[in-house]
Amino acid sequence: MSGSCTVVVGCQWGDEGKGKMVDVLAEDVDLVARYQGGANAGHTVHVGEEEFVLHQIPSGIIHPGKRCLLGNGVVLDLLQFFEEYEELEKRGVQLTGRLGVSQRAHLLLPYHRILDRAIEARASERIGTTGRGIGPAYEDKAGRRGVRVADLADPERFRALLQRGVERVGSQIESLGNGLFEAIDRTIELSARLHDLATDTGSEILDGLAAGKNVLLEGAQGTALDLDHGTYPFVTSSNTTAGGAAIGVGIGPTLIDRVVGVVKAYTTRVGNGPLPTGFDREMDERMRELGGEFGATTGRPRRCGWFDAVLARYAARVNGLTELAVTKLDVLDTLPEVAIAVEYRTPEGASTREFPADTRSLDRVEPRLEMLPGWETDTTGARRMEELPANARRYLDRIEELTETPIAWVSVGTRRGQIIKVT
Ligand code: IMP
Repeated sequence: MSGSCTVVVGCQWGDEGKGKMVDVLAEDVDLVARYQGGANAGHTVHVGEEEFVLHQIPSGIIHPGKRCLLGNGVVLDLLQFFEEYEELEKRGVQLTGRLGVSQRAHLLLPYHRILDRAIEARASERIGTTGRGIGPAYEDKAGRRGVRVADLADPERFRALLQRGVERVGSQIESLGNGLFEAIDRTIELSARLHDLATDTGSEILDGLAAGKNVLLEGAQGTALDLDHGTYPFVTSSNTTAGGAAIGVGIGPTLIDRVVGVVKAYTTRVGNGPLPTGFDREMDERMRELGGEFGATTGRPRRCGWFDAVLARYAARVNGLTELAVTKLDVLDTLPEVAIAVEYRTPEGASTREFPADTRSLDRVEPRLEMLPGWETDTTGARRMEELPANARRYLDRIEELTETPIAWVSVGTRRGQIIKVT
C-alpha cells in the first residue's frame, strides 16, 4: 500500500491563496511539509471567526492531528518559529509531536535580517525584499558557511558558528544595531528546543508513503519568484517551483503524484519588478480594495492586474501541473467586464505566448487582452460549478483552455467552506 504525494505550488508572484488551498487539501492528508522559503511567506487561513497568519510554520498545523514538517530546503528562522509556536499554543492548537524540522535545514539567523536590510538600503536597484533575511541566509547556504539544524547537537560548536557569523557580517556593514546580541542570546536559549524537533524529513515522508499515508508538499511564494524560473533578479532566493519540492524535503521526484497549481483569478505582485498586466492607478486601487491586497508579511500594498495566461501557461509547463486551483474568483463579482492576457506584443511588433527569460523585456511588452463579459452576481455562496453564473464559468473555461490544465478547485471566499471542488 502506498499513500499519495501532492505538491501545492504558486503560479504567479506569490499570494495566490496557497494557505487556503493547503488548508482545504490538508483534510485528506496525514503529513504536510514545507519545502522552501522562510518567514518571507505569509499564509493566511480562516477557520470560523478566527484568522491565522503563519510565516514559518506550515499552515497545515491548523488541522488537528496532522504532522507538519519543515524540509531541508527551508531557511528556518528560529525566533519566528517559536513566536508562532507560542502564539498557536496560546490559541489552543495542540502541537506536541506534531512538528518536525529537517536536520539538514539551514538556520536563518538574526544577522541575516540585518544584512538583508543593509543590502537593500544601499542597492542602486532594489529587489523590494520582505526584509526577513532570506537572500543572505541562502547565500550562506550556497557559500557553504551556513549553520544547520544538525549543528545544534553540539552547543559549543553552535555558539562558535554564530560568533563566526556575527564577525563576518560585522565586517561587511557599518552597524549591527542594538538588538543583535539579545537576539543571538535568545537563539542560543531556544536552540535545544528546536533540536528536539529535528528529524530526517525525507525518511519520514518515505516511511509515511510506504505505510499508506498521504503527503502534501507546501510551496511558498510563486513560480514568477523562483530563483531559476522567475523574473530574475526580482525573485526570491529559492526554487519555489514543483521541482524544488523533491529536493526541499529529500525524496525522489518519481514519488510525486499530483502538482496542484494555485492561481488567483487576477494577478498581484508585491516588491519590485515588472507586472505586464498591471492596471492603471484607478483600477489598481479598486482591485486592491476589493481583494484586500496588502502583503501578509509586510503590509505593503500589492500591485494588481488582469489574469496573465502567458505566465499561467508557463507555470503549468515549468511545474508540470496536473490541475489548477483558481482562488478569489468572488473578488471579480462586481466587474462588468473581465480580461485575460492571452499573449504579449513586443515593442518590435512581434506576438508571443512564451514568458520571456529577459526580465527587462517584460517591462516593455504590451499584453494582448481578451475581454469577456463579467457576471455581476455574488458567487460566494456557490459550492458546485453549476451554481456559478454562466459568464464566470466561461471565464474559467478560458483559463483552462489557455493553460491547457484542468481546473479542480475554485475558491469563492476566505472561509474554509467557500470552495468548489470540480468533479
Ligand atoms: P525575499 O524573498 O524577502 O528575498 O523577497 C524577494 C521578492 O519576493 C520580493 O519581491 C518580495 O516581495 C517577494 N516575496 C517574498 N515572499 C513573498 C510572499 O510570500 N508573497 C509575495 N511575494 C513575496
